[in-house]
Amino acid sequence: MKYKLSASILNANFLSLKKEIDSVLKYIDEIHLDIMDGHFVENLSYGFPVLKALKNQNYKKPLDTHLMISNPQKYWKSFCNQGSDILTFHYETTSHSYIILKKILEFGCQAGISLTPATPIEVINPIKNYLDRILIMTVEPGFGGQSLIPEMLKKIEKARKIVGNEVDIEVDGGIKPKLIKDLKKAGANVFVVGSYIFKADNKKENCNKLIKLIKN
Ligand code: DX5
Ligand code: ZN
Repeated sequence: MKYKLSASILNANFLSLKKEIDSVLKYIDEIHLDIMDGHFVENLSYGFPVLKALKNQNYKKPLDTHLMISNPQKYWKSFCNQGSDILTFHYETTSHSYIILKKILEFGCQAGISLTPATPIEVINPIKNYLDRILIMTVEPGFGGQSLIPEMLKKIEKARKIVGNEVDIEVDGGIKPKLIKDLKKAGANVFVVGSYIFKADNKKENCNKLIKLIKN
């Protein structure tokens, strides 16, 4: 199982996004894009123009796209077409997870399902063979800079038992160095980090702290 750091740009400075990403690129494994529609979550973020602009940079890092939008069946293809390498949508937004996952995989993208904190992990049982990753929200989705909900550790443990070691378990929200050890022990292997990287005075130092804990 590979341990990875996925940097969420939600809290980056958008006026100098390229500079922000360039300054951490060599430390990170994936670039995490949070797509919010103001409907499924109470926030609006950014969409296709930002995805396309990042794709055109030809970063050698996968664009890890986390959809927090209603109606993913209407939009998944456009995200795959416009540059998402990994596409994750929320279980709570559709009654048709199975077919969407199947289509994303057939298209050639990696497919993931995300669960909000209140959704029981057992819902992944019927679709587990169609998942490259599970994204377990460790905060209520919508905003960066929140604190991790401790009950999510048990959920991660259960997820790892259900899917074994072939599927990535990604954790997202409130991730800080002091939590990494317990999250790894529970079974997480992809760590999304937003404000701890992009709000830092010294991004390099913070990335190094994270990597040490994530990769060792
Ligand atoms: C929240 C987003 C997260 C968020 C993480 O809905 O999915 O990716 O940006 O940011 P931090 O690390 O600040 O919690
Ligand atoms: Zn996210």
